[in-house]
Amino acid sequence: MATRRPFVGGNWKMNTTAREADALARAVTAPAADDIDIAVFPPFVYLDRVSAALRQAGSPTIVGAQDLDHRDNGALTGQVSAAMLTDLGCTAALTGHSERRHILGDSDDLVGLKTARALGSGLICLLCIGETLEQREAGDTDAVNERQLRAGLAHAKPASLDALVVAYEPVWAIGTGRTASPEDAQNAHAAIRGVLADLTDNRTAQATRILYGGSVKPSNAAELFAQPDIDGGLIGGASLDPEAFAAICQAATHTTSTTSSAR
Ligand code: PGA
Repeated sequence: MATRRPFVGGNWKMNTTAREADALARAVTAPAADDIDIAVFPPFVYLDRVSAALRQAGSPTIVGAQDLDHRDNGALTGQVSAAMLTDLGCTAALTGHSERRHILGDSDDLVGLKTARALGSGLICLLCIGETLEQREAGDTDAVNERQLRAGLAHAKPASLDALVVAYEPVWAIGTGRTASPEDAQNAHAAIRGVLADLTDNRTAQATRILYGGSVKPSNAAELFAQPDIDGGLIGGASLDPEAFAAICQAATHTTSTTSSAR
């Protein structure tokens, strides 16, 4: 039986100006509770100021990047390395977000390399996985999640997996206003935890947080987070609204999970 500390991340995507980033950072400096991990993922160019603002306010909010390159340095125009991120006070990174996979061309293998680099650099890595509508309708949800999870962890060292967080984000639910039902999301999460147990061990699978993402709002957060294998959320649109984000964080604080469902 494991107790998993709830985790809520706000993925700002390619949104905000410098001024808006400052205001949003200030708005998350006072999380409602200590028994939760809250993270924000601003655009690269605002990481420095957001991380400085949160540090100055003494906030425990985690600052993360939306992506990273898996190589050390070199002639890679436009890319950002893990060392650059840690230099700015970043302690987390997203990998495999569906927009990176489906719009920006990240392959399963590249996601695996980025995930290994993030974890190997001491960053908390939120590895995002999830099926498209077509894959769901074909009954392939669990198979797609399993493939993305196995490829996503293919290069990671077992000892680094303590800093892994998985985010299950059905592609058809992201930014669409459509959310998976709590039951469907729970089934997917339980299956993902089963794959994690197979890939690692039961202890790791039980300790790893699995977040749900895709049109999470204050009105549906509590019901989703009450599911035994849902340990918080990755929030896009609603994370740009400080009140909505705070309400979602609040919903997660009441649902510390102590269940065991991995095989
Ligand atoms: P959404 O995005 O909450 O706007 O659906 C979630 C995400 O992409 O992480």
